Amino acid sequence: MKTINDIDIKNKTVLVRVDYNVPLKNGEITSDLRIRASLPTLNLLREKGAEKIILISHLGRPDGADKSLSLKPVADTLNKLIGRVSFVDDVSGEKVSSTAEKMKKGDILLLENLRFYPGEKANDKDFIKSIIDSTHPDLYVQDGFAVIHRAHSSTDAVKNFLPVYAGLLVASEVENLSKATFHPDHPVLMIIGGAKVEDKQPLIDKFIKKADHIFVGGKIAADGYKSTDKKIIVAKDYDEDATGAKLDIGPLSTAELANLITDASTIIWNGTLGYTEDPAYATASSITAELIGEKSGATTIICGGDTTGFVETMMKDHENLHYSLVSTGGGASLEFLLGKKLPGLEAIKNYHD
Ligand code: 3PG
Repeated sequence: MKTINDIDIKNKTVLVRVDYNVPLKNGEITSDLRIRASLPTLNLLREKGAEKIILISHLGRPDGADKSLSLKPVADTLNKLIGRVSFVDDVSGEKVSSTAEKMKKGDILLLENLRFYPGEKANDKDFIKSIIDSTHPDLYVQDGFAVIHRAHSSTDAVKNFLPVYAGLLVASEVENLSKATFHPDHPVLMIIGGAKVEDKQPLIDKFIKKADHIFVGGKIAADGYKSTDKKIIVAKDYDEDATGAKLDIGPLSTAELANLITDASTIIWNGTLGYTEDPAYATASSITAELIGEKSGATTIICGGDTTGFVETMMKDHENLHYSLVSTGGGASLEFLLGKKLPGLEAIKNYHD
């Protein structure tokens, strides 16, 4: 896969697709994980002498323009992190082209939410062309891993107009997920939790041959998940509340999982093991996050929105925790692990070479 490491960027104007679909509460960004995850690419583009860096992203699922889903707060956060970031409340036309024209070397311009316009989700060639015509990029960098499973104008149609290269986030996600999916070191341990068995069963089915062990906890296990293979180990004891609701896996199951983690060379964790919103029932997930994060020499992948959010919070308090990948893509990493073709990856130059 061709990445921004492989090409000359000096004096080039670069259009970059990022995924700044960040969680918001009362207009405030509650996690800047996806913004920080884009910094290595933006820093490298500047180091390599990029002329102008134009960023495009979606935020939420608006039905037309919706001020509450403007990317302006993201631009402000990004500006604090990296500096020299401006924002225009449109994606094409006069305002965008005159702002882009005035940019100085290394400046960054974030355009407005792509999904304010129907052309984005419709994978409309004219829509992305209008952005290109207003900003005159020399090349396109795909770094929005979390949206790479969508066939949208900024993930798919764009390939008709510009050479598409992977950014560092996309490259890192793909490298780690590929290693775990296609040539993992054994023993491979998959840890499954969460609430919806219909979301997780395809992952269990897909990995039943590749994995050495699949440990099932969380609400799925508490609701009575039945093992169909000796590789599938379902939690056996639980911490319960006063009403008898099983809200976390218990100490025996946690210890059994700990042994599997110690032995594993590849770990994929998708789904928290208890009702982690209440710290009283986050014990098994905390122990698991610590044991995995303290391992060295193993490939360790954390995926699924709840699990990555939980692990991110743990990492803030425990600087010693490290993982090969805390995936920024919920649906995208799931689809990758399931072996599906992802349109945004297919569009990257020489992806299959
Ligand atoms: C995500 O948050 O999973 C991505 O940004 C994709 O968003 P979508 O599910 O609205 O396409």
